Amino acid sequence: MASPTFNTSIQEPPGHNAKLVLPTEDPNTNPTVFNDAMKVRMHVFVDEQKCSAEAEIDSDDTRSWHWVLYATSTGSTRTPAGVIRLVPPPQAPHLVASKSESKSGKQEQHEACIKLTRVAIMPEYRGLGLGRKLVETALEWAAVHGRWRGLILVHAQVDVEQMYARLGFETDESLGRWDEEGIEHVGMYKRVVVH
Ligand SMILES: CC(C)(COP(=O)(O)OP(=O)(O)OC[C@H]1O[C@@H](n2cnc3c(N)ncnc32)[C@H](O)[C@@H]1OP(=O)(O)O)[C@@H](O)C(=O)NCCC(=O)NCCS
Repeated sequence: MASPTFNTSIQEPPGHNAKLVLPTEDPNTNPTVFNDAMKVRMHVFVDEQKCSAEAEIDSDDTRSWHWVLYATSTGSTRTPAGVIRLVPPPQAPHLVASKSESKSGKQEQHEACIKLTRVAIMPEYRGLGLGRKLVETALEWAAVHGRWRGLILVHAQVDVEQMYARLGFETDESLGRWDEEGIEHVGMYKRVVVH
């Protein structure tokens, strides 16, 4: 069978009035691309990584840009294979924490930045360079559409810290290490040239 081809679709922010629901819920008036993004997010973060389904849609979803990577094989419909979300500024204040202490009241201050979140590739499509393709797609978009100075933040699961390092992100140890849904995270930054 021929290898699938891949292309991405972008979903603009659904807007604060959008009633976003899990893809299986009825009634469901989610934008189509957002629904496809949620199918990947539910599979990877909820089914595979055991994060809570209730927390999967959060307050950033209505104001974020979403990309879905689709796989198309000859003679078949396209399948959602990957996803990434770009959260525009402002970001929620970051409470600095370390492994050995609970979150302190100290807040990390930084310039306005965008945040890349919910990066996921379906298991059968991993290791093909598609995660890199999605991150680079969002970074290229940010470089020409942002009204900020080019600073990009990720909260990386420690297991994928090396992936982000290979994509040019640097760990900022001053942000500490913290637990989200039972998974240790670090903060990493990259600066892109804004056109
Ligand atoms: C992390 C994830 C998105 C990577 O997707 P992928 O399509 O397999 O990644 P790619 O094939 O594009 O790899 C990109 C680069 O990162 C590296 N890489 C990928 N996964 C890695 C990992 N787990 N650890 C270290 N490096 C990794 C690759 O070697 C590659 O490097 P190169 O381009 O310099 O050769 C995918 O494994 C996934 O969905 N995991 C579960 C969800 C998750 O953990 N998301 C991250 C949330 S912070």
